[in-house]
Amino acid sequence: GNTPLSDRFQRNIEYLRLSVTDRCDLRCSYCMPEDFKGYEEPEHWLNFDEVERLIGAFARLGVKRLRLTGGEPLLRRNLPELARRLSALPGIEDLSLSTNATQLSKYAHSLHNAGVSRINVSLDSLQRERIAQITGRDCLDKILAGLMAGKEAGFAPIKINMVAQQGVNDDEIDAMVAFCLEHGFILRFIETMPVGSTGRNAQYLDLQPVKLRLQERFGLVEGVMPGGGPARYLKSRDGKFSVGFITPISQHFCETCNRVRLAVDGTLYTCLGQDEKFEFRPLLRGGISDAELEDAIRNAISLKPERHEFKEEPGKIVRFMSTTGG
Ligand code: GTP
Ligand code: 5AD
Ligand code: SF4
Repeated sequence: GNTPLSDRFQRNIEYLRLSVTDRCDLRCSYCMPEDFKGYEEPEHWLNFDEVERLIGAFARLGVKRLRLTGGEPLLRRNLPELARRLSALPGIEDLSLSTNATQLSKYAHSLHNAGVSRINVSLDSLQRERIAQITGRDCLDKILAGLMAGKEAGFAPIKINMVAQQGVNDDEIDAMVAFCLEHGFILRFIETMPVGSTGRNAQYLDLQPVKLRLQERFGLVEGVMPGGGPARYLKSRDGKFSVGFITPISQHFCETCNRVRLAVDGTLYTCLGQDEKFEFRPLLRGGISDAELEDAIRNAISLKPERHEFKEEPGKIVRFMSTTGG
């Protein structure tokens, strides 16, 4: 297609987040309930041929950036093989991965060789006990080993995602800045979003005061970073240090939203904070033609709502972050 994929609000959709599994080896308090049992049946997972065909159609319609997410994407068997097939699709210019890094030591090189160029790693604390508290697992050493393996494998840039929570890890903001400065990582602070109710309350922290404080302390100016996500960046004047802020609550970014999310079962979620969705699996398994598939994609995109709500009223959003990979 040559007309760009745009929604009812004239936003061009060029970024697709592909959740390759809804499973995860961790249980971050703001993401999944500790006793989660609702995993999708394997026969409902799109297989690699189905994913390749569907993403190929999105790419023909103008999707250029693709991010592999989960759950934890490294739990999907043969992920490097899928990455190789997706990075080779005409039109895909940027293939990236969001991971918790617990298994990254094992897969960093093969993923990099398969065409994944950049990674974003979740890391909320540098304290072992605290990571165990937040993620439900004693995994700091594995995460740090994975992170260093990622650096070694040549991913660039590497971004660190720190979900900042009041009274949980807000005393580590400066320590995380120092750690990322030391290793050349781009630190991003993220405000918690109420998606699904995990049974463990997230402690919301407004990031605007944090942003002002860091800006003053380091003399930072506005900057841009490779990516295409909603983070707003500040950088030092010498360009050596960058920090990003993802502020869906205190300063939302819906008017420039360029993305949709495909879950492992072939459901396309058109907004992280809303329920409008479209199911591709029945079409893919029902012998749809390529032209019909492209029409279906355009229809699905027309469902995208103007902005997120994140209503906390019971029953509003029934899925967890692990379904859409954030
Ligand atoms: P790049 O900019 O491509 O590096 O990635 P990204 O920041 O979009 O991806 P990542 O998976 O690292 O996500 C970081 C945080 O941003 C997560 O908490 C996501 O849930 C959040 N996020 C990403 N896209 C959106 C969005 O469209 N809306 C909202 N509300 N949050 C988003
Ligand atoms: N609010 C904000 N960010 C979240 N993430 C997972 N759940 C939430 C939430 N409720 C983040 C993870 C990961 C990224 C992909 O999404 O920390 O870094
Ligand atoms: Fe797993 Fe990521 Fe959710 Fe944590 S935030 S439970 S690492 S999917």
